[in-house]
Amino acid sequence: MTTQPATTTELLDDPAEYKRLLEEAAASVKARLGRDIPKVLVVAGSGLGAFAESVLDAQSASYDQFKHFPVSTVVGHAGKLVWGTVGGKPVLVMSGRKHLYEGVDVREATLPLRALLLAGVKTVILSNAAGALNRQFRPGDLMLIDDHINNQYRNPLMGANLDFLGPRFPDMSAPYDRDLMALTREIAVELGIALRQGTYVANMGPTYETQAEVGMLRQFADAVGMSTVPEQLVATHAGAKVLGISVITNTLVLRTDAVTTHDEVMETGRAVGETFCRLVAAVIQRLPEDR
Ligand code: HPA
Repeated sequence: MTTQPATTTELLDDPAEYKRLLEEAAASVKARLGRDIPKVLVVAGSGLGAFAESVLDAQSASYDQFKHFPVSTVVGHAGKLVWGTVGGKPVLVMSGRKHLYEGVDVREATLPLRALLLAGVKTVILSNAAGALNRQFRPGDLMLIDDHINNQYRNPLMGANLDFLGPRFPDMSAPYDRDLMALTREIAVELGIALRQGTYVANMGPTYETQAEVGMLRQFADAVGMSTVPEQLVATHAGAKVLGISVITNTLVLRTDAVTTHDEVMETGRAVGETFCRLVAAVIQRLPEDR
């Protein structure tokens, strides 16, 4: 007789068990949606819950209604899956995500996204709130992520590779899809939305950065946050196309008081939410047919 591993970590460590968790999670999504899974997924970052509100004919279910989805504990991250249409296309929205600073294993944090990829998602639009390291950037700016640095030193692809999902050694020379970036820039110009572009560095958090850390990070990145990179890694591993957009909620380099607060981050996220929604809705509307 075999015994079931007792803890989640043990389950995550066992490739056969991890595969089972993913397949059960994907099956629970399919069962709940009761229809074809939309090919487009938007992960709404801190303060960007407005995107979920902009979905037409929306239905939703909290994460605890899906098998093995960890539930987010942070204020401002509702933790629900929303589905409906945006720009006339079927979409899924993850409103709220589990962050690594909550103490969760990176493989558990990315399990919902991996399940959605397994269920049929092909394009992933990742968004986040981020602090500006680039001196040109101001709160309220939108930044197209063109590259990233994984300063969390956790990789969701560690452990035995799940060959049915993707390759052992995924290429990362273009982590954010060039065509999607070009389309987004084009649409931003058409809509008169100023769009920055730059490198995102993911820190572990939950602390904001010290002055010394800001001094170091600004040598190689334009904005810093606490998410997005693990999700980009599993999405690219699974062969999905990824677009990343940061909402600059605060600046870390120009201030004299040098204080960053969660309230400030959430408030700026909300203030720029409408612009973010317009941009992303137009991108979704103009995605190629097979995406
Ligand atoms: N640092 C890290 N993460 C963040 C910040 C910041 O300044 N602002 C929003 N998310």
